Amino acid sequence: MKHFHYLFLLLLLTASCDSGDVHEVYRRTSTGRTALLTGSVDDWEELPEGYNIALAAFSSSGDYAMGQRILSSSDVAEGRVRVMLSELSDTVSTVELCVTNTLRKKVLSLQRADPSSLPPQDTIRLESVLRALTPAACLQTGLFNEACIRCHGGGNQSARGLNLTEGHSMSMLVNVPAASNPNVLRVSGGNPEESLLHQILAESGADVLHVNHVEILHKLGVDTDVLRAFIDEWIKSLPPKDSNS
Ligand code: HEC
Repeated sequence: MKHFHYLFLLLLLTASCDSGDVHEVYRRTSTGRTALLTGSVDDWEELPEGYNIALAAFSSSGDYAMGQRILSSSDVAEGRVRVMLSELSDTVSTVELCVTNTLRKKVLSLQRADPSSLPPQDTIRLESVLRALTPAACLQTGLFNEACIRCHGGGNQSARGLNLTEGHSMSMLVNVPAASNPNVLRVSGGNPEESLLHQILAESGADVLHVNHVEILHKLGVDTDVLRAFIDEWIKSLPPKDSNS
């Protein structure tokens, strides 16, 4: 009778596993690993609706977060942010501070940690590089620093006089006439389509300037359509030029 039970259990285990390998059942269990984000924060501003700053876990094959913990203003106390993401599966290949959309898809990566370089039970720690949890800081860290400043202010040159390094980028972009065409604003507050930034990053924008900026965007390694939608929402949220003067 006892043997019969064992046989039944074995059959059950085998049947519940696609590969037919009983050990597979154990390999898929969560390691229960935890990620912890800490850091100094001196500014907080909501992202456009539908977007969040999150501590998120990704597998090697996907841009959709397997798990995420959205940051909110209540996570910031006395100038420090502290956010935890726990029960991580052992298929997680990166834990990232990033911008995600409502589908939990990665829009911009801001900082990443690779758990495989740590002992299995260690907490995955990230000391936030983002001092301001704002749309501008996300664009600075995830986009301009990664893909733009090597030609725009990071080295000896600022192509077309446009410096996109921290502390300069926003004042040089928003409601400022373009050097290449003074009839167009680099970023026209409230109007994505009228903004040169939108036009040169659009899939059809390769020939707008002498440098193909679409290609530069593709090298960033995120879904470019999702990123463009975020940039457009950010531009929509900015005040138009007239209300500034
Ligand atoms: C390989 C160098 C290079 C990189 C990288 C680069 N740019 Fe440029 N960018 C240029 C050059 C050169 C021009 C001027 C082209 C022209 O006038 O035809 C320019 C022009 C521009 C302009 C128009 C400026 C004006 O006033 O006319 C904007 C806006 C711009 N870049 C934004 C960006 C952004 C955003 C990124 C990152 C996603 C970026 N660029 C990355 C070289 C680069």
